[in-house]
Amino acid sequence: MYNGFMSQVIILGAKGMLGIDIVSVLSSEAHQIHTLGSQDIDISNPISVDTALSAYSKADILINCAAYTKVDQAETEFDRAQAINGFGVGNVARWCKAHQIEMIHFSTDYVFNGLKPTPYIETDPTCPINRYGESKLKGETEFLESGVQGYLFRVQWLYGHNGSHFIKTISRLAKERPTLSIVADQWGSPTWTMEIARMISQVLIQKPPYGIYHFASDGYTCWADFAKYFLSLQNSPCDIISIPSSQYPTPATRPLQSRMDISQWRSLGVYSPLTWQKSVQLFLKEEH
Ligand SMILES: NC(=O)c1ccc[n+]([C@@H]2O[C@H](COP(=O)([O-])OP(=O)(O)OC[C@H]3O[C@@H](n4cnc5c(N)ncnc54)[C@H](OP(=O)(O)O)[C@@H]3O)[C@@H](O)[C@H]2O)c1
Repeated sequence: MYNGFMSQVIILGAKGMLGIDIVSVLSSEAHQIHTLGSQDIDISNPISVDTALSAYSKADILINCAAYTKVDQAETEFDRAQAINGFGVGNVARWCKAHQIEMIHFSTDYVFNGLKPTPYIETDPTCPINRYGESKLKGETEFLESGVQGYLFRVQWLYGHNGSHFIKTISRLAKERPTLSIVADQWGSPTWTMEIARMISQVLIQKPPYGIYHFASDGYTCWADFAKYFLSLQNSPCDIISIPSSQYPTPATRPLQSRMDISQWRSLGVYSPLTWQKSVQLFLKEEH
């Protein structure tokens, strides 16, 4: 039986940005890990889910990092996004429920419309304004309706050593250009995937109450100020010009006030995230 310290853990999306860090943290502990990438399982296909997971039906917990994450492309490829982020999550959650395996799943701040002047709490009404958010909201519904026991963490603005993300892109562009225009009216909390991995490790040990939680770094910023901060840490001479989102149109509309209130999570005392500034400092130190 699951004792919280040495558990059998299935990790889907194990080669993605978040998956790699979760595998890395949990492997360094006493858990028995089973990792599956997109070449091993297609979560959008229930037969593939059954077949690929059949060897692990005695596992204690499944962590789902598998997702369709191309936010702009989802506007024109919605069926694919919905098949993975929506129905795919249902396929996995029902399999877990049938085998009495706990599940951890990740959703996004994009389930909200970004019009709330104060940070979002878990019970705020959802109302996605882009197709990716719509597909992730469908995944939340599928997770809840499956009756699986577990945790659904809404996370945001991720960066890590193994993916493409804002810090990587802007740091590269800042080496090529003297100025960069970056939106300053979208607010949230940049979150290092390693922080999520460390938090998940504590979830396995401390087993807090099941439920939906918001998890992000401590504190908030906008993209332009975020860029100014990490470029200053890299002594970059590049100047950041703050612009409104209206001057940087993208296929998928982004929510403006995307701040998530993490106090419900913090009140459990399981794992308190670092400030977004401290996380960026540690991340950049490890990058070099
Ligand atoms: N990145 C962010 O800023 C952000 C923000 C909020 C929430 N999230 C959520 O956080 C979670 C992790 O995101 P991430 O940034 O680590 O994403 P990621 O780097 O894109 O990783 C997702 C992984 O899922 C795999 N995958 C895609 N389709 C699959 C399928 N049908 N069956 C099985 N595996 C499949 C991908 O494999 P291939 O690469 O081989 O396709 C990839 O390894 C996701 O739920 C995402 O929605 C991310």
